[in-house]
Parts: sequence; structure tokens; C-alpha cells
Amino acid sequence: MSEPDTLGEAVRRGFTADPKRVNSRWLYDDRGSRLFEEITELPEYYLTDCEREIFREHADDVVDRCPPGTELVELGAGSAEKTRHLLSALKRRQGSTTYGPIDISREALDMAVQRFADDDAIEVHPIEASFTEGLAKLGHDPATPRLIAFIGSSIGNMTPEAQRSLLREVRRHLGEEDRFLLGTDLRKDEAPMLSAYDDSQGVTAEFTLNLLRRVNRELDAEFDLGAFEHVVRFDEEKSAIESYLESQRDQTIAIDAIDLTVTFDEGERIHVEDAYKYTDEMLAALFADTGLERRASWIDEDGWFAVHLLAADER
Ligand code: AVI
Repeated sequence: MSEPDTLGEAVRRGFTADPKRVNSRWLYDDRGSRLFEEITELPEYYLTDCEREIFREHADDVVDRCPPGTELVELGAGSAEKTRHLLSALKRRQGSTTYGPIDISREALDMAVQRFADDDAIEVHPIEASFTEGLAKLGHDPATPRLIAFIGSSIGNMTPEAQRSLLREVRRHLGEEDRFLLGTDLRKDEAPMLSAYDDSQGVTAEFTLNLLRRVNRELDAEFDLGAFEHVVRFDEEKSAIESYLESQRDQTIAIDAIDLTVTFDEGERIHVEDAYKYTDEMLAALFADTGLERRASWIDEDGWFAVHLLAADER
């Protein structure tokens, strides 16, 4: 079943399911997006630092492996600093370049446009659309090779089916000269992974609890945020960090805007996010299943995060 388009429908479906669950995309209203930005600055959230290190050190190598005249397209518009390294490398090589962020958030796109406003060598063409619609809108001019980037390990928040479906969609749009750049968090000891998703300042807890704040505001509910706790665990079999909101007591909540009353037992959880942590076997299977051929991978010094350069395989 596909994901509902509205918060009301997602909550109705997810809170009446057993076990209760809500897709993590609903964590990102304006406040949620700001909290996520804060997370990326936390000492425990190693993902951003590791990926930044890779781009700082290898952006020229990434670009050297792409055909001359390559333009950058990014799925999402929120990774300013890392994108900047890629754009600088493209500029160093070609003198100028074009950047096309694809995002459903007008605000995120405006920020991307502003970020490069006083750089004459970077032309920004924002595309306000879902990733799938945006990829279709790009069109295909074989004379202008594209580097399509999906970084930050955002792929890891999707279900395995959705991961495959997005990568197949990217593959469908890749011409022979185009390349795809994918950032993935790697599986490692549990301790650093758990603290990255349950930081000591409680910012990640605020981020997941923001879902209930949002339901209160947008759907006219009265969740007591103090009666739920942010809980994380690593599921070995899935190889994913799972995040939950756990009810601290038996409680019944009315969600007026959707005419729904939900009961929670003490200890009952709402699943709000998966963050997949990849092994090399998982990545090999993912690329093989979606028609992508790996041309290169770069890993940070600790071996915690990887960025892959992919091309369409020859089918
Ligand atoms: C956006 N995404 C890659 C983040 C992650 O690491 O899975 C979302 C996040 N959730 C909690 N902390 C960060």
C-alpha cells in the first residue's frame, strides 16, 4: 500500500495498525527540519562529519570520474556544505557549472538559490517536485552529462522496497554519460550508532517527539509529550536503527480533526523511523537489484560512512 499524502491519513492508518507506526517523512515540518539540522551538528551524530570529510578530500576525484561538462543534480536541497565541495570541484575543472536541487520544500529550494546567489560560476535551477517527478522533469540531453547526488544516507530511512524503487527510477533516467552519487552509513559497533540516534542533549528525542507536537497542532489532538519517551534499538537482522515513541502509561487520546480515539498501553510503542546501516553485501545486492554498476567508493578514515559513484549497468 502506498504512503498516504496527508498527515491525517498517515496517522489514521498508522495509529490503528498493530504495531503502531508512522512513516518518518512526517517528522519533517519546519520545526522538524530545523531540529534535524541541529542533529547534524551534534558530536554524537558522526554521519555528517564522516561524509563531509569524504567530500572535502575526494570531491576532485569524484568529478574527475565524471565526463567533461557534467552538471550537478541533487535529490533534496539540504546538504549545503557537502554540495559546495562538489560544485567547487566542478568549477575548478570546467570554470562554471549548473546545480539543480530537487525538493518538495519551496523554503529549502529558496535557501539553495540564496546560498549560491553571488557566485556567477554556479547557475542554480531549482525543481519543486518529489524526487520521482523531478527526475522526470529533468529531461535528457546526452550532450550535458549529469551527476545525480543523493547523499546524507537519506536512502537509509526508506523501506527496502522504497529504496529499490527509487534507485530503479534513478537508473531509468541515467544516460550512458550520467553518474549517480549515493551516500550510505555503514554498519559498525552498536554503541556509536545508538548514541548517534539518542544523543545526550536530547535533540533527537525532541525531533521524534515533534511528531506528536505536530499531530496536536495540525490534527487537534492533546498528546502529553511528557507521557512518551524516545527509544532506539539496533535490529541486527534488518541492520537498522529503529526509533520509537514509547507510551509511559496507559492512556487514551482523542484526535479530533480525524475523528479518531486511540488507546496506548504502558510500554506500547509507535515506530517512527528506520535508519539502515549497510554492509558491503547489502550494498552489492542493492546495486545489482536496481541495475547500477559501482565505479568507485570512498570511505572516511574510521570506515564508518561511504559515498559511491554509480553508473547504469549494461542491460
Ligand atoms: C535524514 N536521515 C539520513 C537521518 C538519519 O540519520 O537517518 C534522520 C535522523 N533521524 C534521527 N537522527 C537523524
